[in-house]
Amino acid sequence: MKMTVSTLLKLKQEAQKISMLTCYDASFASLMADAGVEMLLVGDSLGMVIQGESSTLPVNLEQMVYHTRCVAKQAGNAMVVADLPFGAYQQSPQQAFAASAQLMAAGAEMVKLEGGEYMAETVRFLVQRGIPVCAHIGLTPQSVHVFGGFKVQGKTDAGAEQLKRDAKALEAAGAAVVLMEMVPATLAKEITASLQVPTIGIGAGVDVDGQVLVVYDMLGVYPGKKARFVKNFLHGADSIPAALQAYVQAVKAKTFPAPEHTF
Ligand code: KIV
Ligand code: NA
Repeated sequence: MKMTVSTLLKLKQEAQKISMLTCYDASFASLMADAGVEMLLVGDSLGMVIQGESSTLPVNLEQMVYHTRCVAKQAGNAMVVADLPFGAYQQSPQQAFAASAQLMAAGAEMVKLEGGEYMAETVRFLVQRGIPVCAHIGLTPQSVHVFGGFKVQGKTDAGAEQLKRDAKALEAAGAAVVLMEMVPATLAKEITASLQVPTIGIGAGVDVDGQVLVVYDMLGVYPGKKARFVKNFLHGADSIPAALQAYVQAVKAKTFPAPEHTF
């Protein structure tokens, strides 16, 4: 079944988990679609895992367009979500629309942007003009230098209240999906229950509507530091397709993430 904003909503309503992985090229897109991964994220994590940068900040729109086009060629029934890179959307809703239009023309079916309540106006502007949006909150890696490192967000009462407001404001603005990164599991659960639209977690515990991982992390390809929430699915699998299938199965069965992957 072709994934759309409607089928994603239906999965949440039926309490079926959504599997998402990052994807940067056509061959992986084909394998992921065959494994039943519902959403392929052309993530700006490609700056770190493909380009060898130490953050996602150097990634530009042209590079995101290129990888989006590669992935879209072989995405099958999976939905292609493309990250808006740093500097391509924060200035204004108009700037965000111009950049998103390029990603959509390259084959994206949804764009993802980082930021809370303060990005709601931009989300509304995009959705009203035909661009579905996934809003990324919690640890937003493009703001790593403001956070002072890749740290769990929403740990204080004030931080947790802000994240709840962020999620509500983004949903009200029309976000079709809310992605939470490195958020305490209890808070992610509460936010998930408070929203009609699906939530996707990475380091947000098991009680969200879906999971995402960076494919180079879950196959043990990335040589850099491994976050607590990463699991290598190639362990115990005899091929990459089998590892992708094991991931989908673990997400559906709620056996991933386990407590040791959770904050
Ligand atoms: O770019 C990326 O890989 C992401 C995920 C970690 C959610 O944004
Ligand atoms: Na990203």
